[in-house]
Amino acid sequence: MKEQPLLILDFGAHNNQQVAKISREANVYCEVKPYNTSLEIIKKMNPKAFIFIGEEESTEPDAAEKKTGLENLGIPVLELGNQKEPEQVRTFIFDRCGFSGNWTTQAFIDDMVEQIRAQVGVKKVLCALSGGVDSSVAAALVHRAVGDQLTCVFVNHGLMRKDEPEQVEEIFGKQFNMKLVTIDAADRFLDKLAGVDDPEKKRKIIGEEFIRVFEEESRRLGKMDFLVQGTIYPDIIESVSNKGVVKSHHNVGGLPEDIDFELLEPLKLLFKDEVREVGEALGIPHEQVWRQPFPGPGLGVRVVGEITREKLNYVRKSDAILREEIKNAGLEKSIWQYFTVCPGCKSVGVKNGKRTYEQAIVLRAILSSDAMTADVAELPYSLLTTIATRIVAEVEGVNRVMYDVTPKPPSTIEWE
Ligand code: XMP
Repeated sequence: MKEQPLLILDFGAHNNQQVAKISREANVYCEVKPYNTSLEIIKKMNPKAFIFIGEEESTEPDAAEKKTGLENLGIPVLELGNQKEPEQVRTFIFDRCGFSGNWTTQAFIDDMVEQIRAQVGVKKVLCALSGGVDSSVAAALVHRAVGDQLTCVFVNHGLMRKDEPEQVEEIFGKQFNMKLVTIDAADRFLDKLAGVDDPEKKRKIIGEEFIRVFEEESRRLGKMDFLVQGTIYPDIIESVSNKGVVKSHHNVGGLPEDIDFELLEPLKLLFKDEVREVGEALGIPHEQVWRQPFPGPGLGVRVVGEITREKLNYVRKSDAILREEIKNAGLEKSIWQYFTVCPGCKSVGVKNGKRTYEQAIVLRAILSSDAMTADVAELPYSLLTTIATRIVAEVEGVNRVMYDVTPKPPSTIEWE
């Protein structure tokens, strides 16, 4: 039985997601809405209880009036000044309101499968699968609901990490047996990027070219009614007090504006960890579901300046070595992101008694919880030495390895 939700109203909180996570982790379904959501919408949601979060004396207009109006509805209310004590939230949820805590991963999947079936009927669904966590889980969920009515399109832009395209085919094409169309567009992207060294121009070209390729393919596939989007909850809830803070990253996966689809966003009410749990429950391999964040423009922002096949090759090979060694050292889970960069500068070295003049590779490994700020991961020196030794020995054309020890800020996580 689906329970009435807990409604968290944001009166200007610093981080409205924390309270929502405490509730979700206790298997109680909740949603976060700005305090000025209309009473009509709030009533329609039929909440079992409210939590008000924000400053003690909210600076938001009409806050006091709004609170009184809501309190008069006779629904239990917990008011938190910006402090968020997990125990206080749990006591309120269970002891005061009597929530049952029956909102589980499996319950979510069953419910969503039913909703998707009802929404899609016998119509056709298209999904741009990137291999990233969100699009993968969204595709798997829709596939569970409507099977072969779903077609996934995977555009290989040639900026993927080692073995990534093969993994997408293996997991979604073979194991899930999805209708998967793979488009090898590497040459097309690299031709468009030739001679371009400005990071924002590179991002723009990659984003636009992705849309072109996807558009062409979707026309070829014929009329599709729905388009799957891997939107997740943090993409849509913003703190009332954080108005205007929006990431400016261009994601590959931006949508053609003139194509006539209805959107299917089955993950739009889930936090990232919940998305991962759903992914695992649907049978996506653990490693795929827990993989580190990877930017939409891929290795394209890890080759500084002009992208060439050679430089991509240095980054791809050195990245594979770094990942393998981090895994061997058992550090995969404790580092937020780790990757290599080709800064594009050559330096003199000596290999087998001969002078070399070759490329350098930078190692980057950072700790973070939200990618907005980051600390440098203090990798053991012996591990750094092993990685450097392997890279100069195994990646032809590279004779020097450096470790980036700059936090964010003042640096960013990626080099571009
Ligand atoms: P920065 O470099 O801005 O990165 O500190 C913060 C986080 O965002 C990722 N990133 C991107 N993700 N498209 C993406 O989808 C992009 O263009 C992009 N640029 C950076 C980066 O990997 C880190 O997790």
